[in-house]
Amino acid sequence: MDKTAVIYWSATGNTEAMANAIAEGIRAEGAQADLFSVAEFGSRSTADYAKLALGCPSMGAEVLEECEFEPFLCSIEPELAGKKVALFGSFGWGDGEWMRNWEARMKGDNCALFEQGLIINLTPDDEGKKQCEEFGKRFAKFYSQTCRLRPPRSRAARRKLKTPPIEFNSTPHTSRPAAFLPRAGSFARVTSAGGSSSPTRTSRRVSVSAIFRARSGCIRPSAESADILCG
Ligand SMILES: Cc1cc2nc3c(=O)[nH]c(=O)nc-3n(C[C@H](O)[C@H](O)[C@H](O)COP(=O)(O)O)c2cc1C
Repeated sequence: MDKTAVIYWSATGNTEAMANAIAEGIRAEGAQADLFSVAEFGSRSTADYAKLALGCPSMGAEVLEECEFEPFLCSIEPELAGKKVALFGSFGWGDGEWMRNWEARMKGDNCALFEQGLIINLTPDDEGKKQCEEFGKRFAKFYSQTCRLRPPRSRAARRKLKTPPIEFNSTPHTSRPAAFLPRAGSFARVTSAGGSSSPTRTSRRVSVSAIFRARSGCIRPSAESADILCG
């Protein structure tokens, strides 16, 4: 299974408690989870990790913590493309706006974002810790796919494509021009990174429902089905 780094910032221990429970959940699935505060992670590289679980509470006015976590996140953003990323954090009085903004930012970084960020009000109680563990378990099983379409064979069909062949991955909630989506029954080359550090290549037919869901932008990748979307 993919190696995961759980990296968090926490002032009063709430997000740290979430991080601990998420790491436990990942380990319960038999995967390796290395737990760090941002300070402990220091200048380590994210290159060793296929998965990152990043935690930060809502601070300022619905923003990430600005002195340590924000600079840390900026420093790793160039490395996030293609990585599987889960977000979590504790909040006080808001409605989760900081997490929604954070998710949108991560999608822009072209990573494979796992579910919606997990948010918990203040200190996670037993139920909250359980939620974190389950989140960690699901993240341990999360995988994504990338696939590269073969260019159409006929010259006329190729001309219809406004851009060269497309790289697809499982970034959720991304809407793309229809021309970028595989046609039902078209042959796609799928790179599956699930459970392996060196992806294996397989070919499979693109289902109509995958295309429909991709077009409607309602893909929710799961352990079993990492759906195909443009990345
Ligand atoms: C300076 C500061 C700013 C905060 N801003 C927000 C906010 O904008 N929205 C919110 O919901 N909670 C806000 N909170 C509450 C924290 O998100 C909450 O206390 C959280 O549990 C802290 O997590 P931690 O224990 O991991 O540091 C703020 C707390 C502090 C100290």
